[in-house]
Amino acid sequence: MSKDRIGYGRISRINHWFAALVVITMLSLGLYFHEMPRGAEKLYWQHLHISIGALAWLWIMFRVFWRMRRGFAPPVSQAAIKQHLSRLVHILLLAGILVMFISGPLTIWTAGRAIEVFGVISIPSPIPEIHDFHEWLEEVHEITARVMIGLISLHVLATIMHLIRNRAGLRGRMWG
Ligand code: HEM
Ligand code: HEM
Repeated sequence: MSKDRIGYGRISRINHWFAALVVITMLSLGLYFHEMPRGAEKLYWQHLHISIGALAWLWIMFRVFWRMRRGFAPPVSQAAIKQHLSRLVHILLLAGILVMFISGPLTIWTAGRAIEVFGVISIPSPIPEIHDFHEWLEEVHEITARVMIGLISLHVLATIMHLIRNRAGLRGRMWG
């Protein structure tokens, strides 16, 4: 296990903050263009969302794989129920990241489109166009995004509570 004595190791910390930045950016962009009427502006923001997602894809997969291989750091000292809840939220967050990063590209490919990365790289669909699957994936992508908003809010709120109370020894576990 690559953890130091007070929490997560360097790679885990870089992975955590990089993925947090990417996920929050993707959420913000997605929610922003989702409400827009069809048109050039919506397409612009959607392309940005897709390009960032495609560029970050490999690292995000590595981030989830790394946690699965290394396991979690031993829990902070707090009531057992809170330890279980915190572990559950972490697992659900990782699952959410996976679902979003798999359903996103598949949504595009099942519509028979290529993934365009900043207009420079084009990744053609390796699968045939499947309309029903496409519709289902869109639903999955949207619903999981909403669930992730709840999970991230809970996660950040729990961190803030711990830091305010400064009782649970959270300090230094995810930063230097
Ligand atoms: C921006 C605000 C965020 C803060 C302040 C924050 C803070 C933390 C802290 C302090 C821990 C260590 C908990 C422990 O030691 O038990 C942690 C772990 C974790 N966080 Fe966050 N986090 C944030 C955003 C996110 C986001 C957006 C995600 C994913 C969507 C995320 C996913 C995780 C996961 C899965 C863990 C478990 C360890 C790991 O695999 O990295 N966090 N977070
Ligand atoms: C954590 C990562 C991601 C988050 C939080 C996220 C979030 C969102 C949100 C909130 C929406 C608007 C709701 C909707 O229309 O479904 C959306 C739409 C979309 N996202 Fe993502 N997304 C992520 C990753 C990706 C990736 C990696 C791709 C592709 C490379 C992608 C492609 C799309 C597409 C094509 C749409 C429009 C779907 C439609 O036409 O309704 N997303 N995303």
